Formats: sequence, structure tokens, C-alpha cells
Amino acid sequence: MLKSSADRYGAVAISVHWLSAIMILALLGSGFRAANAMDAMVKAEILRFHIPIAIAVLLLTLLRIVWWWRFDNKPPAVQGAPLWQERIARGVHVAFYLIIIGMIASGIGTIALSGAGPAIFGAPAATLPNFTDYPPRGAHGLGALLLLALLAFHAGAAFYHQFFRGDGLLRRMWYGD
Ligand code: HEM
Repeated sequence: MLKSSADRYGAVAISVHWLSAIMILALLGSGFRAANAMDAMVKAEILRFHIPIAIAVLLLTLLRIVWWWRFDNKPPAVQGAPLWQERIARGVHVAFYLIIIGMIASGIGTIALSGAGPAIFGAPAATLPNFTDYPPRGAHGLGALLLLALLAFHAGAAFYHQFFRGDGLLRRMWYGD
């Protein structure tokens, strides 16, 4: 089923969720590798992977917003969860949207202000600008740490439900009938 039902997410929401998760992990890995790369050629090569994946995450996030807004409704919270946990879960989900959009905006801001686009995507350049000279780069680094913390919390909460409460939460976020 493409749409969500009372007790599980639909195929569109599940696909967007796991595709985004894989791509965001790839972005965190490639982003930290780019930041630590000493050689401009290596850094540019990593960014040629990093930036298109980030644009794909942006498109998936826009699809996700339109999907929930116009076409689908989220299943209700799992039975028996206290209201405060439901509120925190909702807050974490909103924070994900804000941080992901903030990461994409600050990444684009860093490239736009530093003018590094041609050096990354054009003819190979021996040098790249020093990205840390540009304010959006600071926000990008801070956002990355916030995203890591949020991911750890989100995954921890999912495991808590699955293995300690035994309410089968993960089943709702995987394909099935
Ligand atoms: C959800 C989206 C994104 C995530 C999760 C992400 C993640 C990261 C991470 C973890 C870093 C390293 C931060 C640090 O060490 O302080 C980084 C660096 C960077 N990212 Fe992203 N990024 C995203 C989107 C983008 C976009 C859209 C662009 C450009 C259009 C971009 C361009 C860069 C650049 C230029 C760097 C700096 C590399 C350096 O300092 O040498 N990122 N990113």
C-alpha cells in the first residue's frame, strides 16, 4: 500500500525514510572526510559526491513535505506511549526537517559565497577556497553535530521501543501488509 494506515507507514513514506537515512549517513561520512582532506583534488572529488547527494536529499525532503501535506496521514502514536514521549518524538521529527533544510541552505551558502563551484565541478583546480572563512560553513559544522546527536537519539528511541517495550515499532517503518 502506497499510503499509511492506522497501524503502519505506507510504501512511499517508508521508501523516503530509509533512502533519506542512507543518504544522510553518506553525507555525514563524506562531509567529515572532505573537511579533513588536505589535498584540494581529493577534497573536490569528495564534494563532487557530497553535493549531488545533498541535492537528492533536498528533493526527497520536499517530496516528503508535499506527501504528508497533500496525500497521506501519519499513523497514530504507538499504543501505550505516554504523551510526553509522543511530544518529544514529534519535536525530534520537526527538528530533523529544520536541520536538514538548514544543512542544505548553509552548504549552498558556503559554495555560493566562496565561489568554489567551478573549482569543484569544472576543470580540476590545484587549490580550493578556505571554506571556514565563510560564515555559513560554521553553521554547517554545527548543524552536522546537531544532526549526529539527533540521529543517535532517534535511533536509540526506535531501539528502545523495539527491544525494551517490545511494541514492534520498527515493523511499522518497513514494507509489509
Ligand atoms: C543534509 C545535507 C548535508 C549534510 C548532512 C552535510 C554534512 C556535512 C558534514 C558533516 C560536513 C563536515 C562538517 C565539519 O567537519 O565541520 C560537511 C562539510 C561540507 N559540506 Fe555538507 N552536508 C550537507 C549538504 C551540503 C550541501 C547542499 C553543500 C553544497 C551545496 C555542502 C557542501 C559542503 C562543503 C563545501 C563542506 C566543507 C568541506 C570543508 O570544510 O573542507 N553540504 N557537510
